[in-house]
Amino acid sequence: MIKINKLSKIYEKLTAVDNLTLEIQDNEIFGLLGPNGAGKTTLIHMLATLLKPTSGNAIVNGFDITKESSKVRASIGIVFQVPSSDDLLTGYENLKIHAYLYGISPDIREKRISDALELVGLTERKNDQVKKYSGGMRRRLEIARGLIHNPKVLFLDEPTLGLDPSSRETMGNTSKNSLKKKKCQ
Ligand SMILES: Nc1ncnc2c1ncn2[C@@H]1O[C@H](COP(=O)(O)OP(=O)(O)OP(=O)(O)O)[C@@H](O)[C@H]1O
Ligand SMILES: [Mg+2]
Repeated sequence: MIKINKLSKIYEKLTAVDNLTLEIQDNEIFGLLGPNGAGKTTLIHMLATLLKPTSGNAIVNGFDITKESSKVRASIGIVFQVPSSDDLLTGYENLKIHAYLYGISPDIREKRISDALELVGLTERKNDQVKKYSGGMRRRLEIARGLIHNPKVLFLDEPTLGLDPSSRETMGNTSKNSLKKKKCQ
């Protein structure tokens, strides 16, 4: 699913990712642990083609992150460490824009949005502006947004940040269930 080969990122003089080689298999849940400043976000941003590596390369879903960035982007979902939803729009509107951007066809768009809202427990709050959400609700909306186009790979930067214990459990179960489904296919 992901093949990283001698990947490095140097910001001026600071080496954030140092010659990393790593393989992550299909249907694997991979957790990257490290202290603040270890380079986790930098690595995710390179794999998601938001940041150019200084050297080395990686293949995500069979696509080269430096030469096939649009194909990589179409095949992944990402939940950022820092919230990126539009807080003047409602939760529903945020998901709708995302569905448009990812070209989800109109006949399945509404169902995908309602399934995603249901999954993260935001159905009843879908018409509220995001600025009126709690921190954990915002986080849950971002997770729904990351999943709405059924990406093959989902990058979660600090996945449980701000989530209460029950939402953390739901997240864990969702990952395991989607993995089981994939294994059955
Ligand atoms: N745009 C940037 N310009 C210069 N240095 C940067 C930039 N972004 C990150 N860094 C530095 O790169 C290093 C790795 O940062 P990164 O955000 O990848 O770490 P992290 O493991 O995600 O940390 P955290 O657990 O705090 O989220 C840090 O020393 C950081 O200051
Ligand atoms: Mg980080």
